[in-house]
Amino acid sequence: MTARLLDGKAASAAIRKEVADGIAALRKERGIAPSLTIVLVGRDPASQVYTRSKARTSREVGMGGDLIQLPEETSQEELLGVVGRLNRDAVVHGILVQLPLPPHIDAGKILESVDPAKDVDGFHPLNAGRLLLARARTASGPGAIPFPGFAPCTPAGIVELLRRHQVPIGGREVGILGRSNIVGKPLAALLMQKARGANATVTVAHSATRDLSSHTRRADIVIAAMGSPRFVKADMVRDGVVVIDVGINRIADPTAKGGYRTVGDVDFDAVRRKAKAISPVPGGVGPMTIAMLLSNTVRAAELASRAAGTGPT
Ligand code: GUN
Repeated sequence: MTARLLDGKAASAAIRKEVADGIAALRKERGIAPSLTIVLVGRDPASQVYTRSKARTSREVGMGGDLIQLPEETSQEELLGVVGRLNRDAVVHGILVQLPLPPHIDAGKILESVDPAKDVDGFHPLNAGRLLLARARTASGPGAIPFPGFAPCTPAGIVELLRRHQVPIGGREVGILGRSNIVGKPLAALLMQKARGANATVTVAHSATRDLSSHTRRADIVIAAMGSPRFVKADMVRDGVVVIDVGINRIADPTAKGGYRTVGDVDFDAVRRKAKAISPVPGGVGPMTIAMLLSNTVRAAELASRAAGTGPT
């Protein structure tokens, strides 16, 4: 068996088109210009690439906004001041503070300082709680899991990638590897919701899990999000599995341009031969994450306009 590719480039292009149409309609019909501000502190090379990509993509769909780049030495107070200013600025609908932050800054404090109504990352404890209590919403389009808050972009993008490839989730065993606040935990909450497009039986495995393969081999869908290059091998999955690879790992490769290449958390070439479907790295989950960020920001703009009494209720 050679797996079908779960193509995040194509799926995210379709979402970006929907988002661009939604932005054009909002501008024309209601005079709203959805806007996203991204804040980057320091010089982490991967974060620089991600934030530039997020800013460029948001411009491409006609979204307003800004990429604020602050020096590594920025103090926590200064960063709280920047977030506070963005919270009060009615032109700004979505705020994203790129993680990781430098070690002298308490990331939890910063994430809690973002107005939950502008928290398009879905990282504020209020939105995390709403998600757990089934009061957050993913994604765009019919069939998206229907809750009224902001779901974190990578988990929402994974659900959307599966949905757009007609991979059934309801009643299936899903094995998630990794329990991060950004992916593993919110993804588990989303997939186990009692809702159309969810309803999975979820296992979250992590660094203290015993006999990891006994869990991954049982799973209909394996989602690897532990940040370990090519960790998931062919003998860890069953025939006909669906695999989602969330990993973005740089490994040295003298034959590659620049001396390194990007691989996922899955041994792609070997696992592909056993799987029914698999997402590639790059071109799988990554572009979906950005698409969901844009989708969340358009929703934030719509909700803000409703709250201000300028939109339909
Ligand atoms: N760092 C890695 N992924 C993310 C993300 O989705 N949002 C933010 N803010 N930082 C990240």
